[in-house]
Amino acid sequence: MAAIRNPSFVPLVLAIAFFLGWVWHQNILKINLEDKFQRCAAAALKIKREPVKKERELPVISALQSKINNIFHKIEKHIPTIRLTSFNKSTSAKNSKAFISNPRAQYCIGEDLVVQLDMYDYFNKMKTYGGDFIRSRLFSQELGASVSGKVEDFNNGSYFVHFPLYWEGNVQVSSMLFHPSEGISALWRSRHSSLGVLGFQGKFENFTQNAVTECGFKLNTTKEVCEYLDPDDEEAFYCIKPSDLPCDSLTDMKAVNLFSSYLTKEEAKLFQRSNIAVEIPKNFKVINVENCKKYNDTAKPKCETGMTSPFPSGYFYKNIWNPVYCNMTLYTSKEHFIKCLQRKKLFLIGDSTLRQFIMHFTEGVKTTWTMHLTPVTNYLGFNQMNWNSWQKTLLAVNIDKDIYVFYKRHAIPLESFRFYYFKEDKYISRQIDQLGGGMDTIIAITLGQHFRHFPLTLYIRRVINIRRAIERLFLRSPETKVIIKSENTREIHASVEKTGDFHGYTQYLALREVFQGMNVGFVDAWDMTVSSATENIHPPGYTLQGIMSMTFTFAC
Ligand SMILES: *[C@@H]1O[C@H](CO)[C@@H](O)[C@H](O)[C@H]1NC(C)=O
Ligand SMILES: *[C@@H]1O[C@H](CO)[C@@H](O)[C@H](O)[C@H]1NC(C)=O
Ligand SMILES: *[C@@H]1O[C@H](CO)[C@@H](O)[C@H](O)[C@H]1NC(C)=O
Ligand SMILES: *[C@@H]1O[C@H](CO)[C@@H](O)[C@H](O)[C@H]1NC(C)=O
Ligand SMILES: *[C@@H]1O[C@H](CO)[C@@H](O)[C@H](O)[C@H]1NC(C)=O
Ligand SMILES: *[C@@H]1O[C@H](CO)[C@@H](O)[C@H](O)[C@H]1NC(C)=O
Repeated sequence: MAAIRNPSFVPLVLAIAFFLGWVWHQNILKINLEDKFQRCAAAALKIKREPVKKERELPVISALQSKINNIFHKIEKHIPTIRLTSFNKSTSAKNSKAFISNPRAQYCIGEDLVVQLDMYDYFNKMKTYGGDFIRSRLFSQELGASVSGKVEDFNNGSYFVHFPLYWEGNVQVSSMLFHPSEGISALWRSRHSSLGVLGFQGKFENFTQNAVTECGFKLNTTKEVCEYLDPDDEEAFYCIKPSDLPCDSLTDMKAVNLFSSYLTKEEAKLFQRSNIAVEIPKNFKVINVENCKKYNDTAKPKCETGMTSPFPSGYFYKNIWNPVYCNMTLYTSKEHFIKCLQRKKLFLIGDSTLRQFIMHFTEGVKTTWTMHLTPVTNYLGFNQMNWNSWQKTLLAVNIDKDIYVFYKRHAIPLESFRFYYFKEDKYISRQIDQLGGGMDTIIAITLGQHFRHFPLTLYIRRVINIRRAIERLFLRSPETKVIIKSENTREIHASVEKTGDFHGYTQYLALREVFQGMNVGFVDAWDMTVSSATENIHPPGYTLQGIMSMTFTFAC
C-alpha cells in the first residue's frame, strides 16, 4: 500500500524518459524507411498494399478517467459562466416574480401546475440568462402533503416550474432563489480552484514514538511523502513522511479546517445568510385542486430494484411518502422491519445518514416518528450512545430472528475533527468486494456530505468505482439487493463554499447519472428532503420514515 516518493529519483526518471524517447524516435525512423522501401517495391510489383498501420499511441488517460471526465463535463455544461461585476447585477429574489402563466378556471388532479418565474437583478432589470439555483415545492400544510417542483430553465431569465398535482385541496407554492446564477458560477469555480477546502492530519505511531503530519489527496510539498494508493480504483492520497517513522505506521486520521476561500469579496456577499434561499414573491396565494376526472391512480407495481426513478419521484400525503412510479410498503413498526430483515444481513455503508438506520433499530432515534419500546436489534459492544462517535463501526444483531446489521463509514474524506482509527478504513468498493452477497444480503450505500469540500471529480471517481464493485458483486451474486440512497439537503446556514447544498446537488446529479440502468434501488432522499423542506443533515420524523420505507421496500 505504502510507497515512498523520493524527489532524488527525479533526475533518474528524466534520464530514462529521455532514453526511451530516443529509442522511440529511432523506431519511427526505422518504420519510415521500411515504409518507403515497401512502397517502392509494391509500385514495382504493382501490388496493392495496405498502408502501414502505425502502432496506436498509448491512451494518455485511463478508461476510468475518461468516464469521470464525461460525467463531469455533462454536469459542467449546465453551470453558468458569469463573472460578477457588481452585486446589484446579480439576481434578486425580491425583485423577481412568480406567476401562473396560463391561469385556468379549474385545477385538476393528474395535471401539471406550471408556475413561471421571471428573474430580475437588484437594478430591477430582467435577467437575460439562466443558471439560477432554484428550490421549489408545492404543499398543503394541513394535509401533510408536499411535492418538489421540476425547474425548466429557458436561459433567458424566465423559468417554468412544473408541479404535478396529486391531491385534492388547497395548495401553496414556494419558490426559493437558493443562489443566483452569479453565485453558482462562483461556487463552481471555487470548488475547482483547489484540491479541497478541508485538510487532513495523519498520526504515525510505533510504540511510544509518534508524529503528526499533513495529509491530503495531493500535497504541494518538496518533502518526502508517503503514497497510499489503490491502483485498481486509481485512488490515492498522501501524507508527509515523518523523518523517523515508516509510512506503514500511519494509524489515525483527522480533518482540519483550512479556512480557505476562493471567492472574491463581492461574491462572498451573495452568500450572506440573508441572500440565501430567499422566497420569490408571487401574485397568487392558494390554489384549489379538484378531483375533476375522478382521477384513478391505477394500481402501481411494487417498488423493485432496477426501476427508473423520475423527478419528482413521489410526494408526501398525510406525511406518508407515495412514490409516483411504484407502490411502497410503509415501515412503521418493529414487526415490519423484522419481517423484512429476518435471516438477513444488512450492510449500511457510508455516512451518518445511514447510521441513523442502525440507531433507529437499536435506540429509536430521538427525533424519529415512533419510539420502539423494544428494539429491532441490540448493539454488540457499543457503549457510547451519542453522535460524537459517529465514525465508529457499529454492529447490531437480533439472535432470535437471525438479523445482522452492520454500519461502516465510507473512508477518507471524513469531516471528523478528532483523530479516528484509520487502519480499519476501506473504500466502499473494497468493502463490497469483501462481501459474498446473495439473496439474504442487503447493501445500502450513501455518500456525499463529506465530499462537498472537494472537487466534484473526487466524488465521481468514488461513485464509478462503487458501480464497478457492484457489477463484480452481481457476477457472483446477482440476487444481492443493493440500494443507493442519495444524499439529502441540509441546514441552510451550512457554510456554502464547504458544505452547501449546491455542491450536494451536483453530486446528486452525478450519482443519478452513474447508477442509471443498474439493477439497484434508487432512494431519492434529495427529492424527499426538498419536498418536506426538512433542511436537516439527519432528516427526522416522517421524512426518515419515508426514506427507510423506500429502502426496505426495495430490499424485501
Ligand atoms: C445597489 O442597489 C442598492 C439598492 O438598490 C443601492 O442602494 C446601491 O447604491 C447600489 N449599489 C451600486 C454600486 O450601484
Ligand atoms: C424565454 O424563452 C421562452 C422559451 O423559448 C419564451 O417562451 C419566452 O418568451 C422567453 N422570454 C423572454 C423574456 O425572452
Ligand atoms: C519501532 O520501535 C521499536 C522499539 O522502539 C524499534 O525497535 C523499531 O526499530 C521501530 N521500528 C521502526 C520501523 O521504526
Ligand atoms: C505550492 O506551494 C508554493 C510555495 O508555498 C506556492 O507558491 C504555490 O502556489 C503552491 N502551488 C499550488 C498549486 O498550490
Ligand atoms: C381504477 O382503475 C382500475 C384499472 O383501470 C380499475 O380496476 C379500478 O376499479 C379503478 N378504480 C376506481 C376507484 O375507479
Ligand atoms: C399497494 O400495495 C398494497 C399492499 O400490497 C395494496 O393494498 C395497494 O392496493 C397497492 N396500491 C397500489 C396503488 O397499487
